[in-house]
Amino acid sequence: MKINIAGNYEELSRMAAEHIIKAIHQKPNALLSLAGGSTPLGTFRHLIDASRENRVSFAQCRFISLDEWVGLGGEDEGSCRSTLDQHFFEPLNISENQIHFYDGRSSDLIEECDKMDLFIKEYGPIDLIVLGVGLNGHLGFNEPDCELDAYSHVVELDDVTRTVSVKYFSEQKNLNHGITLGMKHIMETKDVLLLADGDKKAEIVKATVLGEMNGHVPSSLLQGHNRVEVFLDERAASLL
Ligand code: GLP
Repeated sequence: MKINIAGNYEELSRMAAEHIIKAIHQKPNALLSLAGGSTPLGTFRHLIDASRENRVSFAQCRFISLDEWVGLGGEDEGSCRSTLDQHFFEPLNISENQIHFYDGRSSDLIEECDKMDLFIKEYGPIDLIVLGVGLNGHLGFNEPDCELDAYSHVVELDDVTRTVSVKYFSEQKNLNHGITLGMKHIMETKDVLLLADGDKKAEIVKATVLGEMNGHVPSSLLQGHNRVEVFLDERAASLL
């Protein structure tokens, strides 16, 4: 893992954005997967600015989901898809035919998983993935003690994830399951970016980077990937 420590969130976001811009210059038609939590929002802002300054173009890229809350679709406030629509796809005029996302409202989630895995087979492997990390070490919705050799699948959410989830929604939702790319997708991705900021993430960042590598802390499995760049602010890096 290559660890990059920024003085603050703004700098972390700029550094991660510059890394992504470089990757797109090398492969303009990259297949990307972007996390929809709070952490990458600053990175997205930098990418939008860079695009407006003609320093990068996503016109040839394709985008797939990292994860989605089961029960929520693109129209639902707080869904991963709606977060990305608002903070990335719409400001960058990314067209619908560049995007392939899980529909968490589908009545056939197995089919959603199959469709995603087929899409990745056709257009993959994933070139670049931007991950946040849950307080319990989850990546996407690969929760503690997740399956290590799974592709897309549906999971029962961990208690920590359910508790933290309230921050994404203005009204209470009863969310118990998620649909996610599997650890196998993440480990087969060419270029992995892991972003974390703030004091709250310091413990899990320590476990991710310095802890024993095992599925109990899914993010620690990234120690076994040969191209991971970790972008932290000083607070998230304070226990390293
Ligand atoms: C969420 C999502 C992840 C996200 C992670 C961290 O629950 N399932 O995709 O990356 O947890 O979220 P945040 O960046 O808001 O801390």
